[in-house]
Amino acid sequence: AGLATSAAAFHFPTPSIAQGAPLRVGFMLPYSGTFAKLGKFIDDGFRLYVEQQGGSLGGRRIEFVQVDDESKPETATDNMNRLVGREKVDLVVGTVHSGVAMAMVKVARDTNTPLIIPNAGANEATGPMCAPHIFRTSFSNWQVCQPMGKVMFDAGHRNVVTISWRYAAGDQMTDAFKEGFTKAGGKVVDHLALPFPEVEFQALITRIATLKPDAVFAFFAGGGAVKFVKDYAAAGLNKSIPLYGAGFLTDGTIPAQGADANGVKTTLHYADDLDNPVNKAFLSAFKAKTGEDGDIYAVQGYDAAALLAEGLKATKGDWSARAQALAAMRAAKIDSPRGPMSFNRAGNPVQDVYLREVRNGRNELVSIAGKAVDDPARGCRV
Ligand code: BEZ
Repeated sequence: AGLATSAAAFHFPTPSIAQGAPLRVGFMLPYSGTFAKLGKFIDDGFRLYVEQQGGSLGGRRIEFVQVDDESKPETATDNMNRLVGREKVDLVVGTVHSGVAMAMVKVARDTNTPLIIPNAGANEATGPMCAPHIFRTSFSNWQVCQPMGKVMFDAGHRNVVTISWRYAAGDQMTDAFKEGFTKAGGKVVDHLALPFPEVEFQALITRIATLKPDAVFAFFAGGGAVKFVKDYAAAGLNKSIPLYGAGFLTDGTIPAQGADANGVKTTLHYADDLDNPVNKAFLSAFKAKTGEDGDIYAVQGYDAAALLAEGLKATKGDWSARAQALAAMRAAKIDSPRGPMSFNRAGNPVQDVYLREVRNGRNELVSIAGKAVDDPARGCRV
C-alpha cells in the first residue's frame, strides 16, 4: 500500500502542451482512379463528424495528413511507411481496396500503429491478421454477401453466374455468396472474372447471355460498377436475367447509372431510406457540407470518426493511454446512420445486413437479410 501511495504521489503529470498538440490522423485513401469518389466520401464523412464536434474529439484537436493510394497494392507498403515514419501520424484511417488494406494491416502490426479500416472488406484483417489496434467500421467481404445466398434461393433462383474483378474483394465476396447459396440448395454454374480495374465487360456479358442462368450475382464498385450496370442493360440482359450483387454495385453510383440501375437488388449494411433519426440528420448534414447525397462510404468515414471519438473520450484526449482508448473502442456501441453497430473480438462490426432494390433513384430498403450479422473471424486469436 505504501508503495502504491508514493507512486501516486510522485506521478508525473501529463504536460498540458502534449494535450494541446493535435492528434495526427493519416488518411490513406484512393483520391484517384476507379475508387476516387469512394475515397473522397470517406474523407468527407470523417471530417463532417469532427466538424460537428467543433474540430476536437474527447477534447483533443484533430489534424489530417492525406496520401493517395491509387488503389495500388504495389505501392501500399511504401505509402503506409511514409505516414507512420516521416509523417509521424498517431493513427491511420484507410482504405477502400482489399489488396492495399492487406499491406496496410501488415505495416500496422509491425509498427504497432492503430488502424481504422473505413471500407476494405479483406476477411483476413479481422481474421488471421486481427490485432487489438486494428478496427473496421465497414464490413467483411463475407459478411455482406453470405446472406444474399438465401435471399436469391428464396426468390426462386437455382442456377446463378457470379462475376467480379479478380482480386481479394471479388474472390471473397463471390465465395461468400456461393457459400450461402449452396447451403440453401442453389448452384453457381460459372464464375466470370477480369483483372482489377479493367472494364471491358463485353465478352463476359456475351458469355452470360449464352449460359442463360436464372440470375447473376456481381461485385463491382465505383466507376467500374457504373459501367457494368450500364453495359448489362445495353445488352438487354436486365430484361431477361435479374441482376443482383453486393450493395457496392449501386451505392453512390445511381446518379451515373440512371434508369439502367432500376430493379437491381443488392445486400449491404445500409439503405438510403433507413428510417432512423441519425440517418436523416447525417444525410442532410452531408448534403449541406458537400452538395451531394451521402452513401455507404460517407457513412463508414463518419463512423470511423465516431469510433475514434469513443477512444479519445475514454482518456480525455490522451492518446498515450492507448490501451485504455483501444479497449473503449472495442466496447463501443455506435448509433450509426446504418443502425446500431458494435464490434466483435476481432474489431469487425456486428450489424444488420439489408436487402435493397433500386427504385426512385435510390437504394430502397426491402427487408432485413441478416439481423446483427457477425463475421466468424476465422483464424483470429485475440
Ligand atoms: C474492397 O476492395 O474491399 C472493396 C472495394 C470497393 C467496395 C467494396 C469493397
